[in-house]
Amino acid sequence: MQNKVVVVVGATGGIGSALVPKLAESGARLVLVARDRDKLTELAHSLEDDYDIEAIAVPTDITQYAQVEAMVKEAIGKFGQIDILVNTAGAGVMKQFNRIEPEDLERMLDLNLKGNFYTSQLVANAMKDRKVGHICNVIGILGQHPMAMASAYCASKFGAVGFSKCMADEVRRFGIKVTLFYFGGIDSPFWDQVSLKVDRSKMLTTASAANAIMFALTADPQAVPMEINIQPESHLFI
Ligand SMILES: NC(=O)c1ccc[n+]([C@@H]2O[C@H](COP(=O)([O-])OP(=O)(O)OC[C@H]3O[C@@H](n4cnc5c(N)ncnc54)[C@H](OP(=O)(O)O)[C@@H]3O)[C@@H](O)[C@H]2O)c1
Repeated sequence: MQNKVVVVVGATGGIGSALVPKLAESGARLVLVARDRDKLTELAHSLEDDYDIEAIAVPTDITQYAQVEAMVKEAIGKFGQIDILVNTAGAGVMKQFNRIEPEDLERMLDLNLKGNFYTSQLVANAMKDRKVGHICNVIGILGQHPMAMASAYCASKFGAVGFSKCMADEVRRFGIKVTLFYFGGIDSPFWDQVSLKVDRSKMLTTASAANAIMFALTADPQAVPMEINIQPESHLFI
């Protein structure tokens, strides 16, 4: 991982915040992406101070194609290349199907599907000439299994799985690996905005998610961890 350039989208979130110190510790150079400029800048400074690595904050709303283009351009301008992309930005709307408003559906599709698509596509295009790269898309188990109250979220996540698998088939010939992560519930700020009653003490930790991502990123060069599925032992809803 030494000197690899890693773009972490959702760097300030629960999973992102657990992942970036591990990447920094391994000597990676970091491009930190989310919308909140202040949080990102603080994170970049603390990583540079604590780990003696280079980290830049690139505030970006990934639902806006032009902003994702500008982010990729800035990353390449600063570091000359992108080796790894970790897409871990997202949000959840959990409501009965008949109560989903058009704006709920649009929000899910814009962020979890289109934002993830734009980022994957533009970074893959930046990787392909070097014939090396790794794209990690954090999907969640609701990209594989349906659940009551999750129709809009599942629509976005099943879509993200669909395009990611097509992308994986296409970018393999450019030496780009694609790994999809199907985590079960993770205790993170994601759940602060979700109205479902859940027992957060039974969930996975953000550290478990970060460890799984590091496992994929440090696999043997000839090995492609295509899909990683980790569930909490008990997924009790209260
Ligand atoms: N937590 C779980 O139980 C769980 C389980 C399986 C899968 N997942 C998936 O894992 C991913 C991350 O989850 P998490 O638990 O880490 O969530 P989180 O703590 O809520 O963090 C979300 C991150 O995404 C960023 N973000 C949100 N909207 C954005 C936008 N439009 N453009 C750029 N960045 C944006 C947020 O920063 P800003 O608000 O500053 O933009 C934040 O850094 C999501 O895709 C989620 O669906 C979560």
